[in-house]
Amino acid sequence: MPEGGLGRTKINIMEKVIRTKVKDLLKTQPGVQVLAKGWVRTKRGNKNVNFIALNDGSTINNIQIVVDVAAFDAELLKKITTGACIAARGQLVPSMGSGQAVEIQASEIEVYGEADPQVYPLQKKGHSLEYLREIAHLRPRTNTFGAVLRIRHAMAFAIHNYFNNKGFVYLHTPLITASDCEGAGQMFQVTTLDLDKLPRTAEGAIDYAEDFFGKRTSLTVSGQLEGELGAMALGEIYTFGPTFRAENSNTPRHLAEFWMIEPEMAFYDVHDNMDLAEDFIKYLVSYALEHCADDLKFLNDMYDKELISRLESVVKTDFVRLTYTEGIKILEESGEKFEFPVYWGVDLQSEHERYLVEKHFGRPVILTDYPKDIKAFYMKQNEDGKTVRGMDVLFPKIGEIIGGSERESSLEKLNARIDELGMGRESLEWYLDTRRFGSAPHSGFGLGFERLLLFVTGMANIRDVIPFPRTPKNAEY
Ligand code: 4AD
Ligand code: MG
Repeated sequence: MPEGGLGRTKINIMEKVIRTKVKDLLKTQPGVQVLAKGWVRTKRGNKNVNFIALNDGSTINNIQIVVDVAAFDAELLKKITTGACIAARGQLVPSMGSGQAVEIQASEIEVYGEADPQVYPLQKKGHSLEYLREIAHLRPRTNTFGAVLRIRHAMAFAIHNYFNNKGFVYLHTPLITASDCEGAGQMFQVTTLDLDKLPRTAEGAIDYAEDFFGKRTSLTVSGQLEGELGAMALGEIYTFGPTFRAENSNTPRHLAEFWMIEPEMAFYDVHDNMDLAEDFIKYLVSYALEHCADDLKFLNDMYDKELISRLESVVKTDFVRLTYTEGIKILEESGEKFEFPVYWGVDLQSEHERYLVEKHFGRPVILTDYPKDIKAFYMKQNEDGKTVRGMDVLFPKIGEIIGGSERESSLEKLNARIDELGMGRESLEWYLDTRRFGSAPHSGFGLGFERLLLFVTGMANIRDVIPFPRTPKNAEY
């Protein structure tokens, strides 16, 4: 290994000490020379001895560096302030203080980057989440965002693990598309046309033949339609990628750019679909409890004293399953005053979903068989002619976390629905080929990744579980 390669810069030429991550240092037996690198969280002490709490992002916990003031240049120590980046070498010794088993008795310190205390925005005191949103480029340096981002990573990893173990194929669906999967018209248009000089057809309409793709295109709202093509060939697939919705909802549960996981399975009916959804969420929550214990404990102590017990309880309880019609009946008979009135046919609001989950049942709920008019065109039509085989998973504090359905596999019925909705079949012929050739019963769903993270981290605002949130009037960084 060349000297200084792979970030393993040595701070002392004579002794080849390699950097150890804080997470590993805290598990190391004392009595060895070590090298730590990271950002200073705090420095305290007196004229004889300083204590530096150093964090490198590998864990919520800090390593304490003990500095014998007399042994160091006073100018160097002055530069070690909250936010500065340093390397510290020394002996790992048992810690006298409480809170940590080991600490570093520093023999050498190098300051990589100072952080002027007059202007560095993250000082020792806790900052509000609202304030941190305004400095989203620096908030990963806080304990809270370190925890959230490590949990986000662990969940992404666990998702791939889950499906890989089950033999699902990870299918990459396009981000740029010419179809509106959900039919909700909330798409961000993608164009290279000059907006000041739009080409026009003879009739005066915008001439998309001149556009980059030769037709009107947008960012995808869902990878499902392409996912179905995958399932009709590979059996079981999943997608996991960003999706985009230009819905002007400034709520704590909506993003304009969010990540979605969409499994799609041949030969699954709606019940198999529900079984998979429930098992999947339980796996992810158990994974977090097992692998993110330190971070969850921090969030539990700081923000939400019931977080860990809520997570544990979800893993153990069966989700309630009932039809939309039964759900509406419960809401109508509840005597509760809702902001949005309840009647059969209404698209449920989050207040309704949360009433069912939090007040009525006290556990997650899966609602099925929704009125066809509030659901997308592709859902399997029931015999009653009024409802479709949709299924939404509703969670405490969040409302809808998963939306899915069994798909309409009959070409005839699907065509009829597309016509009924006035959608135009031409742009969907490729999709309809799945029904034309070798059609099969199949199902799938979409899990909103950030909604899952809201549940797992206990954060209350979706802007706080994604590194760089995109919301109406905000595309900072
Ligand atoms: O219910 P939705 O719209 O379903 C679909 O897109 C289907 N094509 C999925 C499928 O069957 N393959 O969205 C699925 C999930 C929601 O339940 C929610 O968790 C999340 O995506 N979601 C959002 N998350 C954050 N911000 C938004 N604006 C979201 N819109 C939907
Ligand atoms: Mg939905």
